[in-house]
Amino acid sequence: MQPIGGAGVIRVPVQSGQRDYQVLVGNGALHEAASDLAAVCSGGAAIVVSDANVAPLYMAPVCAALRDAGCAATEVVLPAGEAQKCLARAEELFGVMYERHLTRADTVVALGGGVIGDLAGFVAATYLRGLRLVQVPTTLLAQVDAAVGGKVGVDFRAGKNHVGTFYQPWTVLADVQTLATLPARERRNGAVEVVKYALLAGGETMTLIEGALSGAPVTGDSARDPAGLCREDVVAECVRYKARVVAADEREESGERHLLNLGHTIGHAVEAAGRFSRYSHGEAVALGLHAMLWLSERLTGLDAADAERATRLLAAVGAPDRLAEVDGDTVVELVARDKKAAGPQITFVLLSAPGAPVRNVHVPSESIKEVVEWLQRP
Ligand code: NAD
Ligand code: GLY
Repeated sequence: MQPIGGAGVIRVPVQSGQRDYQVLVGNGALHEAASDLAAVCSGGAAIVVSDANVAPLYMAPVCAALRDAGCAATEVVLPAGEAQKCLARAEELFGVMYERHLTRADTVVALGGGVIGDLAGFVAATYLRGLRLVQVPTTLLAQVDAAVGGKVGVDFRAGKNHVGTFYQPWTVLADVQTLATLPARERRNGAVEVVKYALLAGGETMTLIEGALSGAPVTGDSARDPAGLCREDVVAECVRYKARVVAADEREESGERHLLNLGHTIGHAVEAAGRFSRYSHGEAVALGLHAMLWLSERLTGLDAADAERATRLLAAVGAPDRLAEVDGDTVVELVARDKKAAGPQITFVLLSAPGAPVRNVHVPSESIKEVVEWLQRP
């Protein structure tokens, strides 16, 4: 991570009932963020939680910034992967905090993707009823989504994110330079969420994202690499959208926050039907977004030209547009089960145009079957 000039850092404010904070987005932002870290952790202790892929790359500069802030840091490096997002790992982290005599004035720093952010955030929220929390997201998905907005938690038995709470960070330091070391498939995961924001926001946001994706190169696995999205202006624009939604509905009570689930209803079912291994989260959500576009043309009047424009964006990310090797009936069953479990509240978010999402759309079971059949077209 190279130091950068102050002009390069974009500060996006997030206002929430719990606390207001800033998301710093920059290229080499960590150095620039030393004063922000000092404001949170100065004179105290910190535990920096990371994983085995991220720590060798970025632990040293984060700990150096903490030292510069006069903060004694303990490093904890976990194996990588979703399986770490569990109560056993949380308990292990509680143990480290106990042994180090951390108090509520001390800080948990989450350095990594959404797995580390959710787990370390959960630990920060619950140990001693809440320590300070700094999110340092290193995946595109975590920078535009997971690290912002305060959802923290762990998986429990078959339930993903089943145990958790809302706990806003003190600050978020998003350094787009860290995204250069991400595998292309992980960049694609985050890129699908970026496309989601393009569709939700429309207008200049969509034009910005289309521009950043134009000419995305084809990689070794013959899909496109959306590396062009790993830019401060793109990440900051997505964070601005999420910040507006979080300010309006921090605890997902009024329904506004459901907007962020665009494409996720069918996406989650595809991910689960593939036992969380056939499709990555981003690939499954991309299929969910294709389904959403198909349904939106039929149920909420999305123009065919706008649907085509959105489809081009998903293609530029390198995301799949056909459901293969996953049983369509299982997807339909899982959507039905999800809807039942959610009660009458959770329905689909569709689009009437880019920038004009429509919440609470009732989608008949027949249409869900039809759209899943369409996803399976040869
Ligand atoms: P992840 O945290 O598993 O990271 C993906 C992979 O990339 C891991 O192997 C990791 O070690 C590696 N990695 C991370 N940064 C790297 C870097 N800079 N260079 C090289 N390798 C790097 O996955 P993710 O996609 O970031 O997050 C997924 C998790 O986020 C899921 O658990 C999901 O439930 C959660 N999530 C939470 C929210 C929220 O609002 N809290 C929102 C979306 C997703
Ligand atoms: N990722 C969806 C949310 O934060 O609500």
